[in-house]
Formats: sequence, structure tokens, C-alpha cells
Amino acid sequence: RQMQRQEQFEARIAAGEFIEAKDWMPEHYRQTLLRQISQHAHSEIVGMLPEGNWITRAPTLKRKAILLAKVQDEGGHGLYLYAAAETLGSSRAQMLAALHSGRAKYSSIFNYPTLTWADMGTIGWLVDGAAIMNQVPLCRCSYAPYARAMVRICREESFHQRQGYDALLTMMRQGSDAQRAMVQDAVERWWWPSLMMFGPPDEQSPHSAQSMRWGIKRVSNDRLRQQFIDATVAQARVLGVTLPDPDLRWNPQRQQHDHGAIDWSEFWRVISGDGPCNQERLGARVQAWDDGAWVRAAALAHAAKHSPAPAQ
Ligand code: ACO
Repeated sequence: RQMQRQEQFEARIAAGEFIEAKDWMPEHYRQTLLRQISQHAHSEIVGMLPEGNWITRAPTLKRKAILLAKVQDEGGHGLYLYAAAETLGSSRAQMLAALHSGRAKYSSIFNYPTLTWADMGTIGWLVDGAAIMNQVPLCRCSYAPYARAMVRICREESFHQRQGYDALLTMMRQGSDAQRAMVQDAVERWWWPSLMMFGPPDEQSPHSAQSMRWGIKRVSNDRLRQQFIDATVAQARVLGVTLPDPDLRWNPQRQQHDHGAIDWSEFWRVISGDGPCNQERLGARVQAWDDGAWVRAAALAHAAKHSPAPAQ
């Protein structure tokens, strides 16, 4: 019976059908999704921190309102994604416990510091740009609750990318020399970590082959990274910034850009907990959770007071 279910499942995937929460699925498929979706949710929540830092220091009311909206969107994305992961049988409390104890991963990119206002624009342009490139194919992920959550997330990410590019364009076209230098410096610091967001090279990616077979991932890490580089070079030219890679050049044979070597030792170090801000980020999340204990207790007490009395 198990074999028959497995075969039916594989046939549905091969036919391009979507899998719903109540459908039968192999345990490994469920665990793979739970790992990826919960990591994605944690990334959104931890991703609020580097930008949250700058809300009180935004240069104008308009930029402040935009940044506030963006950081709130990221909180919302985390919540849809936790809800999608809950359909696979894990509770939010379990997922948060895994994050707070350091067992769960979140995106490497959020372990880098945000040193200047230009980092806000650069995160929008490069980090959210990379996120969109990675996430648009996830709207066709074979697991329907995740795919549905991704549709709205991608729309919002595209606003995030545009606002970042707009902030940088304003600084480059209307700013002072010092502001232009600040943008160039931010781009130099964020470029390589943005390329690492797509994950390790395909041949060093333990999960890719199976996730591609199951339609969880639709496009490989390296292909997405290449698409991102190809799209970004022209945008950098319009902005007037130099991407910090002397080997970056158009290859007419491949019809793609060649690029310099990525320092994968830095990537593995950051995702194993030893990046510039890992401790600070996790510390801030744990502190926020502890500080919110009274809110959770009050909400539970309120719910208990207003729930109908048990039947006699
Ligand atoms: N940051 C942290 N960990 C990473 C990253 C990264 N940028 N890339 C890969 N990893 C981890 C994987 O989670 C995996 O670790 P695990 O076995 O402990 O779970 C390991 O490195 C090996 O990588 P892969 O085999 O390539 O893993 P996977 O098939 O899951 O692919 C990827 C990684 C591309 C990030 C995939 O999980 C994905 O598309 N996730 C959804 C998108 C997402 O999470 N985006 C978050 C950042 S965007 C944002 O929030 C703005």
C-alpha cells in the first residue's frame, strides 16, 4: 500500500499537479519542505533587524514611511510562511524554539551589518532583488500552500526592490560626492554576500537534486545566481556604480556574464554561526521573545476569559 501511494505521489508530481496539505506525501518530502519553509520564515523575521535599525535615522519622512512599511511587510511574510509550515505538522512554538536555540538556519545575508543609510537602498536593490529572483520560481512550488504564500510575497518584494533602487538613484543623481561614495561602499560590501544568498554551487548542494525532482525548487542555485548577475549588471550601469568584481564581463559565447570566484569558505562560516552579526541577530530575537512573554500571557488569559464555559 505504501509503495502504491508513493507511486501515485510521484505520478502526480510528474504530471505537474500541486500537493495540498491533506494529501498523502512521503515523509522526506514533508521534512524537506518544513526545513525550507521554516528557514525562509526565520529569514524574513531576522531580516527585519538590519533595517529596523535605521527606521529612527531615515533622512526624510517619505523614506521613513517606506522603510516602516517594508519592515512590516517582512513581518507579514514571516507569518504567512510560518502558517504554511504549520500545515506540514510543526507548531510555530517548535519552529521558534529551533530558531532561538540556534538549531535552525536563516539566510546568511542577515548576518552582515548595516553601516550607513546607503545600506538601506543597497539591501532593497541587491538583497531583495536576489530574493525575488529566487522566489518567483517558488510560486510554482509543488506544495500548494507554500506556492500560494509566495505569490503575495513576491509582489511585495518587488516594491522593496524598487524602493531600494529609487533611494540609490536619488543619492547618485542628486546627492553629494560623499553620498555617492557611500553608495559605492555599500555596493562593494553587499555584492558578494548577495551572490551567496542563492546557496552553494549546485555540485555542493546536498538538497538540490531531490528538491528539483519533487518540484520544490524549480531552478538550480547556480542558474538563479547567473540570472541575478545578468540582470544586475545593466542596473549598476544606470546607477553609475561599479560592481566589485574585476573578472565580471559579458561572454558572447555563453550569452551570460563571467564572474570572479565566490569565497565559499566565508559562506560556510557565516551559515555555521560565525558571521559578523550572527550573535547579535540571534540575541535580539531571543530578547524580543523574552520581552514579549507578558503579551502572550495576557492574550491567553483574555482568550480563556472569553471562551464559552465548558458544558456541565
Ligand atoms: N543562507 C543560509 N543557509 C543557506 C543558504 C543561505 N543563503 N543557502 C543554502 N543554505 C543552507 C541550506 O539551508 C542547507 O542547510 P541545511 O541542510 O542545514 O538545511 C545547506 O546550506 C545546503 O544548501 P542546499 O542544499 O542548496 O539547500 P536548499 O536546497 O534548501 O537551497 C535555498 C537553499 C536556495 C536558500 C532554498 O532553501 C530556498 O530557495 N529557500 C527559500 C528562499 C529563502 O529562504 N529566502 C530567504 C532569504 S530572502 C529574504 O528573506 C529577503
